[in-house]
Amino acid sequence: MTSLTIRRPDDWHLHLRDCAMLKAVLPETTRHFARAIIMPNLVPPIVTAAEAADYRDRILSAKPRGSKFQPLMTLYLTEDTDVRDLRAAAEIGLIHAVKLYPAGATTNSSSGVRDFTKVKRVLENMAQIGLPLCVHGEVTDPEIDIFDREAVFIDRVLDPIRRDIPDLKVVMEHITTKDGADYAREGGDKLGATITTHHLVINRNHILVGGIKPHYYCLPVAKREEHRLALRKAATSGDPSYFLGTDSAPHTDANKLLPCGCAGCFTATNTMSILAEVFEQEGALNQLERFASLNGPAFYGLPANDETLTLTKGDPVAHPDRIETDDGPVTVFDPQMPLHWHVSE
Ligand code: NCD
Ligand code: ZN
Repeated sequence: MTSLTIRRPDDWHLHLRDCAMLKAVLPETTRHFARAIIMPNLVPPIVTAAEAADYRDRILSAKPRGSKFQPLMTLYLTEDTDVRDLRAAAEIGLIHAVKLYPAGATTNSSSGVRDFTKVKRVLENMAQIGLPLCVHGEVTDPEIDIFDREAVFIDRVLDPIRRDIPDLKVVMEHITTKDGADYAREGGDKLGATITTHHLVINRNHILVGGIKPHYYCLPVAKREEHRLALRKAATSGDPSYFLGTDSAPHTDANKLLPCGCAGCFTATNTMSILAEVFEQEGALNQLERFASLNGPAFYGLPANDETLTLTKGDPVAHPDRIETDDGPVTVFDPQMPLHWHVSE
């Protein structure tokens, strides 16, 4: 196969930031993607409907001219989230999900949830109106090894919440383990999981062997090879439980290279070329459309995009190493392999 046309993809987990960074990174997403679930972990976070509406307006103003990109907004769940505000925002179609960060789990998560009993009423209301909960699935218990935090979260937090509120729609965000992939597959149609581009490409050796590679450091951190292989199998299976959420998370190189560097891989620029390469390696190019363009909208109860995207195989694609922003350069994720699939814009 040398050419592949699919419905236009969506990104079900994206960090756009704000101000200069937003302006610089947004075109990298709008070039290929029709819609994206916008993460609310700004400083301060997007907690209320009014904040989500303002942030959506800032995104729409930063959009390249002519782009029909639609940002799908989310609220950042706190122990003080106002149920009425949240319901009203969902009813007018302003928000499409609510994001649960365990406090301290990742970048800008300090306002997240410490005591899960305090958000039970919000979650019950979300179940009633069919509003999905996007979950950063890692425990923050310092006793738990960072490589085990996803599996422990499933047992200790996620499974109890889902037993307690079985009608709640849940997206396990950026799963990184076989445990996560198995749990998502067996969880019925109220449970889905996003998988990032980079977790299909790197394992923990890529971060740590031959010198530390800050640009491969993200959260949840990449795990051992058996988990990467399980994620590749899941993503390319066509199973409706799995869909693309790039978790493209730009940080300036200065912030990535600090002694305590930020977590996040910036993949918006080359995601579609990388995915095509990965799916081809797995002999599953025919499943790329399900993963990137069909399973996500089906889970969120939205129509698939009418427009299409064409990928054509040729000489290796020349992606930029970094993009320039007024805050400084942002390094583009390096998949360490030639990419042969060109995206027609
Ligand atoms: C994200 C960020 O930078 O906002 N970082 C990351 O490593 N993925 C936060 C997140 O999604 O955990
Ligand atoms: Zn993220």
